[in-house]
Amino acid sequence: MKAIALLGSPRKEGNTDLLATEVLRACREQGCQVEKIYLDDLNIRPIGPMVDDFKQRRDDRADDDWPATAAKLMAADIVIWASPVYWQGVTAQMKCFVDRLSTRYVDRQLLDALRGQVWIAITTHTMPGEGRWVLEPIRVWARHFKVKELMELDVTVRRWGAVKDMPDIMQQAYDLGQAAVAQARAS
Ligand SMILES: Cc1cc2nc3c(=O)[nH]c(=O)nc-3n(C[C@H](O)[C@H](O)[C@H](O)COP(=O)(O)O)c2cc1C
Repeated sequence: MKAIALLGSPRKEGNTDLLATEVLRACREQGCQVEKIYLDDLNIRPIGPMVDDFKQRRDDRADDDWPATAAKLMAADIVIWASPVYWQGVTAQMKCFVDRLSTRYVDRQLLDALRGQVWIAITTHTMPGEGRWVLEPIRVWARHFKVKELMELDVTVRRWGAVKDMPDIMQQAYDLGQAAVAQARAS
C-alpha cells in the first residue's frame, strides 16, 4: 500500500509539512510505502490553453515535472493534500498541480486510478475559520474523482513550525494516518 503527501507550502518544516509528516509516520508504521512530495521543489507549470473538447486535449507542457508527479498520484492508495491557506485558497504550487489534471479530464486511466483512493486534507492558517478556503475545494475534487473517503485536519496556528508544540493536534494527525490505512484496507 502506498501513501503520498503532496505539499503545497514552500516552507520546509512548516505547519502543514509537520502535520503531513506525522500522518505519513503513522502510515509507514502500518506498513505503507510513503513519499513526501514538495511541489515547490518541482517544475510544475500552470496549465496551458485547453481546447473545450475534453477528448482533444493535449498537455503541451508535459516536458516538466507534472507527468511524473501525476503518475505518483495515480499509484497511491492514500493521498495527503497539505496546503496552508494563501489568500482564500490553496497555494499556487498546489493549484498548478491540480489544474493540470484537466489535461486528462476524461482519461480513463486517471479516473480509474483516483476512484476509491483515501484522501486526507490538511490545512493551517493564522486566522480562525479560514480553513474552509482550502477544505471546500478539496471536498469538491474528492467528489469529482469519487474517492472513497476524505478526512480533514484544520488548524489555526501562528508561527512557523508551531504545531510541534501542539501535542493534541500532532496526535490527531497520527490518528488520521492510522484511520486512513484502515479505511484503505477495508474492502
Ligand atoms: C501568501 C500568504 C497568504 C496567506 N493568506 C492567509 C489567509 O488568507 N488566511 C489566513 O488565516 N492565513 C493566511 N496566511 C498564513 C498561513 O496560512 C499560515 O502561516 C500557515 O500556517 C502556513 O503554513 P505552513 O507553515 O505550512 O507554510 C497566509 C500566508 C502567506 C505567506
